[in-house]
Amino acid sequence: MRVLQVSAELFPLLKTGGLADVAGALPLALMAAGQDARVLLPGFPAIVAGVRGLAPVAAFSAPWGERFGLLQGRIEIDGAPPIPAYVVDAPALFDRPGNPYEDANRQPYGDNHRRFALLGWAAAQLAQGLDPAWLPEVVHAHDWHAGLAPAYMAFARGVDGPRVGSVFTVHNLAYQGLFAPWHFPELGLPAPAFQMNGLEYHGQLSFMKGGLAYADRLTTVSPTYAREIQTPDQGCGLDGLLRQRGGVLDGILNAVDDQVWNPAADPALVQGYQAPEGRHMTGKARCKSVLQHQLGLAARPDAPLFILVSRLTEQKGLRLVLQGLDALLAQGGQLALLGSGEAWLEDAFRQRAAAAPDAVSVTIGYNETLAHQLFGAGDVTLVPSLFEPCGLTQMYGLKYGSLPLVRRVGGLADTVVDSTLEDMASGEATGFVFDRFDSADYDRAVRRAFALYQRAPDWRRVRGHAMRRPADWATAAAQYVAVYRQALAAAQAPTPLPH
Ligand code: ADP
Ligand code: GLC
Repeated sequence: MRVLQVSAELFPLLKTGGLADVAGALPLALMAAGQDARVLLPGFPAIVAGVRGLAPVAAFSAPWGERFGLLQGRIEIDGAPPIPAYVVDAPALFDRPGNPYEDANRQPYGDNHRRFALLGWAAAQLAQGLDPAWLPEVVHAHDWHAGLAPAYMAFARGVDGPRVGSVFTVHNLAYQGLFAPWHFPELGLPAPAFQMNGLEYHGQLSFMKGGLAYADRLTTVSPTYAREIQTPDQGCGLDGLLRQRGGVLDGILNAVDDQVWNPAADPALVQGYQAPEGRHMTGKARCKSVLQHQLGLAARPDAPLFILVSRLTEQKGLRLVLQGLDALLAQGGQLALLGSGEAWLEDAFRQRAAAAPDAVSVTIGYNETLAHQLFGAGDVTLVPSLFEPCGLTQMYGLKYGSLPLVRRVGGLADTVVDSTLEDMASGEATGFVFDRFDSADYDRAVRRAFALYQRAPDWRRVRGHAMRRPADWATAAAQYVAVYRQALAAAQAPTPLPH
């Protein structure tokens, strides 16, 4: 099947979070399964620099009249077949340094509605034959950045032309792409699109709703999150629409890209390791001692090393980590954090590191190599999120034998099994899971981690289970293909015009 994936980020070219990991891994998994997958990306500097052999394919007009180009090239990742890639060539909109969404003061760019409308518009143009050499059968749009693609496609469907299916995936409902309503005329959508069952959200324009309302099929990144977003508690004001469309919504769990995350062959680690290894996992022990040294932590092989690799935002539950830090240190643990985000969290963690430099290390910034080294060295990976659509770091923690300590929410609930006696006995336990978003429950989970750490044979057994837990993209890709087929069937059915 010919599938066009549309996203704003793609690892390894450009990444601000898990979306990039998924956007980089899924096309390769689809190609490995025999599908004809291509990607469409905005022409951000890192994308233009990273896509090989870029050449013009076509030119097209934006809804607001400006002319832009479409380029084509390929993304070549070591050892993997090249991914054919289209790039929207619009330097006036995309050629800006730094973060793809925000300016240097962390404010969203004032023309983001145009920047990301153009991405969706280009996808819809491709679905209408912009590239005479390749017509997608399904367009798969990720998050609000690509949310207008399904809307444009739905409104183009009335006219004669190819019937292309659309799939919209929610990676995080909390980021909705909201814009002032007076931008609506620039978007090139007909008036009926600006209503409650369309793009309108409390008087504003919602790009997220473009995807949710108009895509043939919807997915999100874990089965639990698919249920949660249909409740007022976690629906971010969109639960009504999501319940209404619940029949076409699936939760497909993200996976781990083995080419990027594999402790047996990870160039960032001083020594590789895999399960089952000798009793003491020499490779992992070496990673830990080297990292302790590198970060200025006390050289204590016996101290459980808690790691955290995260955007520093409210979502990630970091206030629980701050509140529980004294108790964690009092029990003899160490914390190594890598992250960036909200200034108050950066400051708070920096202060904790300054107060106890041999037990707390805080690296503010973005560092792919250090992230790998932390998973390689860690004993416990902290992910105590308030909400979590899927979460990838707990899965990296599993794979690297750095047992995840997570809250039972979203994809965390679907990927980690608490080390209760019965689940340890059955071989299912893979980490530590707590329920309520409060310090008492979090602290108990931390104490559970210490208790297990002291029982070395049990720890090793749980770690072995964690490292062997399957998380391959082939499984997820097969589920996406099933959804693509449904989307294509829906697009080809004689449907009424969109509301
Ligand atoms: P989210 O997408 O909500 O940020 P995920 O757990 O799905 O959360 O994905 C986060 C991804 O970003 C992971 O690949 C993680 O390793 C990476 N990451 C987060 N912060 C950093 C950082 N400061 N440096 C390097 N990688 C990071
Ligand atoms: C989002 C979510 C995260 C998920 C990622 C990839 O950024 O916050 O939970 O893992 O997308 O789907």
